[in-house]
Amino acid sequence: MWKLLSLALVAFGCGVSAESTNFASSPVFIPAFYLNNNPEVVQAGYTSPTQARDHWMRKGMQGGLQGTAAFHSRQYLQRYPDLAAKFGQNYTAAVEHYLTKGKTQGLLGYVEGGYEGRYTISQGSLFISASTRVGGAVDSVVFDNTEFINAWDHGRELQVAMTMLPNGECFNPTEGGGRDDQRGAATTTKIQSISSQNGMLSTTVLPAFWLKPGDKETQDTGSNCTAGSPALNTQDVYPYPFSKNITFGCPGADSDPCFTYSLSVVVGGSIPKYTTIQVEGPTGYHTGEFNTTKSLDVTTGALVDFDTSKPLVFSTWCLQHAFGIWAPPGQDPDYSPSYASMHFVQGQNFADATQKWSVVWRTKAVSEDSLPMTLNYKVYICVGTQIDAAKCTMKLFEHHNKTY
Ligand SMILES: *[C@@H]1O[C@H](CO)[C@@H](O)[C@H](O)[C@H]1NC(C)=O
Ligand SMILES: *[C@@H]1O[C@H](CO)[C@@H](O)[C@H](O)[C@H]1NC(C)=O
Ligand SMILES: *[C@@H]1O[C@H](CO)[C@@H](O)[C@H](O)[C@H]1NC(C)=O
Ligand SMILES: *[C@@H]1O[C@H](CO)[C@@H](O)[C@H](O)[C@H]1NC(C)=O
Repeated sequence: MWKLLSLALVAFGCGVSAESTNFASSPVFIPAFYLNNNPEVVQAGYTSPTQARDHWMRKGMQGGLQGTAAFHSRQYLQRYPDLAAKFGQNYTAAVEHYLTKGKTQGLLGYVEGGYEGRYTISQGSLFISASTRVGGAVDSVVFDNTEFINAWDHGRELQVAMTMLPNGECFNPTEGGGRDDQRGAATTTKIQSISSQNGMLSTTVLPAFWLKPGDKETQDTGSNCTAGSPALNTQDVYPYPFSKNITFGCPGADSDPCFTYSLSVVVGGSIPKYTTIQVEGPTGYHTGEFNTTKSLDVTTGALVDFDTSKPLVFSTWCLQHAFGIWAPPGQDPDYSPSYASMHFVQGQNFADATQKWSVVWRTKAVSEDSLPMTLNYKVYICVGTQIDAAKCTMKLFEHHNKTY
């Protein structure tokens, strides 16, 4: 009976850790990350988790491809020269060493300061990783050997986007890149700086506009941006920077897995007529299994039905992996932050299935002479099981209330 139950959990992907001798196990290989991070594998026709695993076992591992942001054989060998001396370029041996020894000894499978466009920081079993492929947006958060983020195209990830209501996507600087970047290896976004060191991941970019000048919207994203509406921007790239710092630890929940997402966006340049500046700061797109959205009632500590005004606890349906997201109020003079949650129908490919949330900041239109203007926001994200993320979020709230 127990055996049947555990098989059922495996079948539904409910976060079961595999044996350490399995070379395609989650500490070293996660199918969605592998396919999104290695577009040439998808182009070669490997699209399902089984095919991804097959490619990894037959070619990718030996070839030194990266199977998860939390571990990369080439970076592992660069970080530990003694292992490089022993294994040379036998990347399979590096994977084997990490699985059988390195991981339990606390060795790290990435290098500080970035490697071939990927920038990773970690604390315990929490890894946060950004890629230049998607404009320095965070395309992977791994916790407990589980990938949280969907990085299918340049509009997913964990990233920041801005719009000037009611112009929707017709004027929509987007950190990860533009719509035309699709699933490609390059982004229209211009990266000005990107770094990962001393536990801080930082980027400054000039974000791509989601639509290119002359392109048309395909859906209804605002009363002045419906299907067929033209892009309102006249350039490919928004001329002012979006910046972020991501660091571990959140005030009031020092011992919980939690990170602080601090962002700034500069509003300026030639802006179409608008009423409100809206920043999704940040927005997170998750793998399809994150389909359970709850809100935290901070007066009781209970999880309740989704409510745009309450901190969000966004989890997998089996509740084992979750983000608790809290944006302290008082950061924007005009409105309190609100929370959004959207569930997208599963696409044709398993890695296309996604669920999204955002922290939504709104500022009233400002006069042209006060531009350019910088908006700064801070958001805290607890990571754990649904219950742990909720408890951690509660601690943040209580600490904040005591302090202010
Ligand atoms: C590489 O390492 C693996 C795992 O230890 C081993 O089985 C294999 O023989 C090695 N290959 C070479 C060419 O040394
Ligand atoms: C990021 O950190 C640097 C250095 O501490 C600071 O100068 C900058 O203002 C920070 N940026 C954001 C968006 O928090
Ligand atoms: C929306 O579009 C209409 C028609 O072009 C225009 O008259 C109106 O000023 C626009 N409103 C805003 C707020 O941009
Ligand atoms: C979430 O996904 C699971 C597994 O596919 C499904 O059984 C469940 O009904 C979904 N829940 C929601 C709220 O969509």
